[in-house]
Amino acid sequence: MTIRSVIRGVGHYLPERIVENAEFEESLDTTDEWIRTRSGIERRHIAAEGQTTSDLAVNASAAALKDAGMSVDDLDAVIVATSTPDLTFPSVATMVQHKLGMKRGFGFDVQAVCAGFVFALTNANALILSGQAKRVLVIGAETFSRIMDWSDRSTCVLFGDGAGAVILEASDGDGSSDDRGILSADLNSDGQYLDMLYVDGGVSSTGTSGKLRMQGNPLFRQAVGKLASTAHHALEKAGLGADDVDWIVPHQANIRIIQGTAKKMGVSMDRVVVTVQDHGNTSAASIPLALSVGRDKGQIKPGDLLVTEAIGGGLAWGSVVLRW
Ligand code: UT7
Repeated sequence: MTIRSVIRGVGHYLPERIVENAEFEESLDTTDEWIRTRSGIERRHIAAEGQTTSDLAVNASAAALKDAGMSVDDLDAVIVATSTPDLTFPSVATMVQHKLGMKRGFGFDVQAVCAGFVFALTNANALILSGQAKRVLVIGAETFSRIMDWSDRSTCVLFGDGAGAVILEASDGDGSSDDRGILSADLNSDGQYLDMLYVDGGVSSTGTSGKLRMQGNPLFRQAVGKLASTAHHALEKAGLGADDVDWIVPHQANIRIIQGTAKKMGVSMDRVVVTVQDHGNTSAASIPLALSVGRDKGQIKPGDLLVTEAIGGGLAWGSVVLRW
């Protein structure tokens, strides 16, 4: 008998305000056509004034709890993947606990930028496998609109706000790759690439929260190879190959990265969940958002084999293989 962390519920939340590409044409030297063809993005959601990352996270969590048919009393832990917390501390996870009315268990944040959800999922799985928790709420939630330099056309047209959440529960498996739940993970980071994607402020350096800076093209050239490689390693650890994959659920940064990675993995685009056109890059929220939207659209079904893969600031990148 093997313990497996199985997804029992999924949910998401997107702020009401939608900004279409054309809106940027009014204030920046850019076009809808450039944004669409270079990134695949058509629109993104932007949080309202006063609406924080924990607000988005709570809404996504409520949807995931409802989907699982569970209440907060059923949860042992909350992990939030975010790089845009409400405050420097305490963690967004403790705010989510409080706002949901969760009086027991524990919560903490994971910061691995766009790869944050993959890292959080892997941590939640470790808590379950080690017996620390039986049910873990894992959230990716971001308000990247708050760290945009709105005069920088090379970054501000690419990002959006949102949140997605899943509930993992300990379940018995037989140890084979036919089990439902998380089957394997592969995590990586390499600090030599800091300059490619970072925020130019912080508590112990400038005392400000700073703005996002990115060298898009060099990062693009790193992304496809590293994503295909981490997905390959995770599949290999699970004793599976590309032919076994029902859905790639990738980090949604750029349609050309998504297509390039799928091609390198040998998986056709009709087996890839794509939301980048509607959400833009929501960093750690993009994979749980795509899981929730893909499930709601009837793409992801029970028993399907999923590969999630993501890369972001650090660089940090990784992949989780799971059976839905
Ligand atoms: O989520 C974390 C991971 N993030 C990523 O993986 C993002 C990776 N990078 C990318 O997605 C792409 O590199 C971008 C979408 C950011 C840019 O696409 P690109 O094909 O790499 O374009 P580029 O950076 O080489 O820029 C091409 C041109 C430049 O002009 P010149 O130097 O050729 O005259 C830019 O100044 O496009 C210009 N440009 C724009 N033009 C119109 C940059 N931003 C814009 C814009 N509108 N918004």
